[in-house]
Amino acid sequence: MFTSKITGLGHYVPENVVTNDDLSKLMDTNDAWIQERTGIKERRHIKKGDGNSTSVMAVKASKIALERANVSPKEIDMIVFATLSPDMYFPGGGVQVQELMGMRTIPALDVRNQCSGFVYAMSVADQFIKTGMYKNILVIGAENHSGGLDFTTRGRGVSVIFGDGAGAAVVSRNEGEGGILSTHLHSEGEHKDQLSLQGPSTEYWVPEIIEKNPQEDIPYYPYMDGQFVFKHAVVRFAEVINEGLKANNLEASDIDMLIPHQANLRISQFIQKKMRLSDDQVFNNIQKYGNTTAASIPIALSEAWEEGKIKEGDLVVLAAFGSGFTWGSVIMRW
Ligand code: UT7
Repeated sequence: MFTSKITGLGHYVPENVVTNDDLSKLMDTNDAWIQERTGIKERRHIKKGDGNSTSVMAVKASKIALERANVSPKEIDMIVFATLSPDMYFPGGGVQVQELMGMRTIPALDVRNQCSGFVYAMSVADQFIKTGMYKNILVIGAENHSGGLDFTTRGRGVSVIFGDGAGAAVVSRNEGEGGILSTHLHSEGEHKDQLSLQGPSTEYWVPEIIEKNPQEDIPYYPYMDGQFVFKHAVVRFAEVINEGLKANNLEASDIDMLIPHQANLRISQFIQKKMRLSDDQVFNNIQKYGNTTAASIPIALSEAWEEGKIKEGDLVVLAAFGSGFTWGSVIMRW
């Protein structure tokens, strides 16, 4: 059995910075509320006409990751693409990356696990490498949220939180020490409605949506019961990190860098306190980018690595919780 390792990381965010004050011109919100409840100061939004889309941002992040891994597009054996906001309803974003990067006719798998998408995608890549089937897998998390949010006061509980961006990792067969030690995945579908986007779908056909009075019930904007999600998130995050540590006979004090999904700075701080981790052991950048769902972990991981905060031999933990509910963790030795 082989092991796998991240050999290259990259991320991309659109240039267009949207501050809390910018949002307060569109809806009844304010900088103090957003910062106090979420820690977010600003986020990036694609600007119509700037050439970006979910798959374009994914390609920009992937090119950096491939270069750093010293792996050419032709050497990639598989794409695993996590997103809830693909350019098209179908096909998924993976095939678009395959085309845009001029890759061989390799498999392109789309993962639909929202905020846990990147952790799920990493686990999928790890399994394919462990069995010896593939050597290099491109794992991507990318989102274009700004194209689908309600920027009126009605949608403020959701739209102030989310941002656009992409992150990518090349996961390769491990030739040396370390690598991915284990991955842990979970779901609990009974809470699927608490953070969801219902249409367009086979439940809510497009003609039905068009016929509806848009002021009434609008199933084509995301819905979130924030407090319900928050309460579950803080429990599941800690649970799945501890599950991963226990499986490897490790303790919270052994963690060199925890990269939590950037859902809300208050959630990260809650977990940090609960697990008695120091500021140096946890990386957060939600202040700059908001919650970028499947992209948040690879963006944060890439940025932490660029800032020299992840070094050879470090114990790095990724953890996510989100819509589904789904949650998971990745434990790796860098
Ligand atoms: O990444 C996937 C997982 N997602 C999460 O983990 C998100 C988890 N939840 C959260 O982060 C928080 O619940 C939120 C940041 C979404 C909301 O914070 P909250 O402290 O739970 O606020 P709330 O929803 O209970 O709303 C409190 C008040 C309400 O007004 P009333 O009813 O008390 O008069 C809201 O209408 O704040 C109001 N409000 C806002 N006010 C200004 C909601 N959104 C806004 C806003 N600006 N953007």
